[in-house]
This record gives sequence, C-alpha cells and structure tokens, in this order.
Amino acid sequence: ETIEKGGYDHFMIKEIFEQPRSIADSMRGRLRADDGHLQLGGLSNYLDKLAESDRIVIVGCGTSWHAGLVAEYIFEELARVNVEVEYASEFRYRNPVINEKDVVIAISQSGETADTLAAIELAKSKGATIFGVCNVVGSSIARATHAGAYTHAGPEIGVASTKAFTAQVTVLTLIAIATAKRKGTISEETYRQLLIELETIPAKVEKVFENADKIKEIAFIFTYARNFIYLGRGLNFPVALEGALKLKEISYIHAEGYPAAEMKHGPIALIDEDMPVVFLATKDGSYEKIVSNIQEVKARKGRVIGIVTEGDTLIPGMIDFVIEVPKVHELLTPLVSVIPLQLLSYYIAVMRGRNVDQPRNLAKSVTVE
Ligand code: G6P
Repeated sequence: ETIEKGGYDHFMIKEIFEQPRSIADSMRGRLRADDGHLQLGGLSNYLDKLAESDRIVIVGCGTSWHAGLVAEYIFEELARVNVEVEYASEFRYRNPVINEKDVVIAISQSGETADTLAAIELAKSKGATIFGVCNVVGSSIARATHAGAYTHAGPEIGVASTKAFTAQVTVLTLIAIATAKRKGTISEETYRQLLIELETIPAKVEKVFENADKIKEIAFIFTYARNFIYLGRGLNFPVALEGALKLKEISYIHAEGYPAAEMKHGPIALIDEDMPVVFLATKDGSYEKIVSNIQEVKARKGRVIGIVTEGDTLIPGMIDFVIEVPKVHELLTPLVSVIPLQLLSYYIAVMRGRNVDQPRNLAKSVTVE
C-alpha cells in the first residue's frame, strides 16, 4: 500500500496531485488544438442524436451529480440545448416525463452506483438514448448505456472523489463542444479558443499547487471550525457544493454550499465572527455581484477565504485569506477553482486526525439503494 501511495501519506492527496495528468489523459487522442481536431470515438456515431435532441437529462449521485451541474451550464451556453440535472435516486422514483427524443447522460466514477443504474434502466424503458461518462472500464453502467466516453482518470482509491470530478468535467466539456460544433451554435473562434485553453488546463492546475503551503496554513487556522459556508455563482455554484461536500465527507465539519445570491434568503442569518465563508470569486461574468456578496458577509464580521483570479487587487483588500488561481476561459473555471477546495478539506481532515481515505459511514461505491 505504501508503494501504491507513491510516497504520499494518503491516496486522496496523491490523487489530488495527479490531476494535471488525469485531466490530460481525459483529453488524450481526443483533442488537438493546432488543427482543431476534436473527436470522442465512443460517441462519434451518436453526435447527430445529441445535436438533434431538444433536451438532455443528466443523472448521477454525489460528486458525479456536481459534475453534471457544471455540464448543464456549459451545454446550455455552447449547444443552446435545454439540460436538466437530476439526482439518480430522485429521478428513478418519480414518473419522469421522458421519451425517445431525449438523451440521458449518466455520470459515474465507479460505474456501479445502484441508483444511477436503475435510473438508466428506467430511461431506457421509455425509449431514451443513454450515454455514459464512467471511469471504470467495463463497469455495469458502462455496459448498460448505448454509448459513452470514459474519463481515463485512472483508479481512484480515496473515498472522497477528486480526480474523477475534474476528469468528468473535462469529458463533459468535450462532449458539449463537439455537440455545439455539430449544431453550429459555436463560432469558429470560440471553438478554437476553447480547444487551446483546454490544453493549458493541466499546467494551470499544476500552478494552483504552488499555493499548497498557504492552503495548509489556512487549514490550520480553521481546523476546529464547527461550520463552513461555501458560496459561488454560475459555474462556481456547483464548485461551492463540491467544496462543501469534500469538507463534510472527510473532516466531518458541517458545511453548506449555496448560490451566493441565495445567501440573503437564509444562510446570512448564520454569519458571525466565527463563521468561515469560502467565496469562489474568480473574475467572470458575476464578479461584481460576488464583490457585493463579500461585502455583505464582511459587514456581519464573517471570516472570508476567497478563491480569486491571479492578479486581482480588489477582493484581496476586502477579505481575510486569499488563494489565487490562474486565469482560464470562463467556461473552464471549475477545473481550477475546485483544486484549492480539495486541498483545504484534505489538510483540515488530516489536522483533525481523520481517516481521510476511508471516512466513517461512507463507501467508495454505493451498490445498495
Ligand atoms: C459515493 C462516493 C462518492 C461518489 C458517489 C457517486 O457516495 O463516496 O465519492 O461521488 O458515490 O459515485 P459514482 O461512482 O457513481 O460516481
């Protein structure tokens, strides 16, 4: 086991640091920015189906559901298609309105999650076309779908999912770009630009790791926090959910992720000088709005940790702790903004002496309903 951990203390931290490679592996052979090549072998016969569909329903559980939420924004923006993201466990027990025109994308690291598998069978029985985005080759979900694209993140051992999430987001982004290209809803310029920017992501994730010591110091300060709030808007909203989930899973600290604008409808009542609030505050379309949300929290003495874009001079002057991430194309933000949150939860859990790789009550793959 020591050898498998490759010199790291835990699988989770090894897997976090593997992300530049696992993201690159998810794109390998599929994307070439210099000549505009983008092809997902497993889906090439189904691209017309994706392009013609009026609605895409994404199903998954846990972290995979969060990857689906990220994909919703990207598909809608680029491919101008209506996307719904559902917890597999809710979808399967309703009487969902679904028919042969619909495309269902099932996301699963293990490919064995019982609820996701049951959701697929239900959608299939109603005539929908099912695609899988799985990590484990030959898994039950991979076999149950009509077609799919593997994430190629390599084996993920830590129960809290890290590299599988970024690989899922990468592959879903490729599918969204390919669909948009086929539909003609993406300009040649945006298409080229996204491919170029995708190729730079592994190096940019590597750059986030330069902040690891700083994140460790922040973790030390908040080791014994009892609650945490994570806030983000747009594509960073699912990242806030994922950051809160990571913290809950391995440190057992209560954490909530919220869309920043919804804060005033509830969570703001929780804010006092003891409440750490993590803001996803990268420079994007909602930047100005996030700035005012930060002011609202500071006015109530909350302690703000901000994930900001490199070179930002405004937000660092307003908050308590700053973690910079490199500038990326807005649609690719989650691939870098989630990394500090994974590290923060890891260091807090280690400092609290938790069993990081096998947290209590959780399983890597939930094969029961
Ligand atoms: C479990 C794992 C999570 C995972 C979820 C979905 O709860 O602990 O890390 O996100 O199942 O698993 P899947 O394999 O379907 O992605």
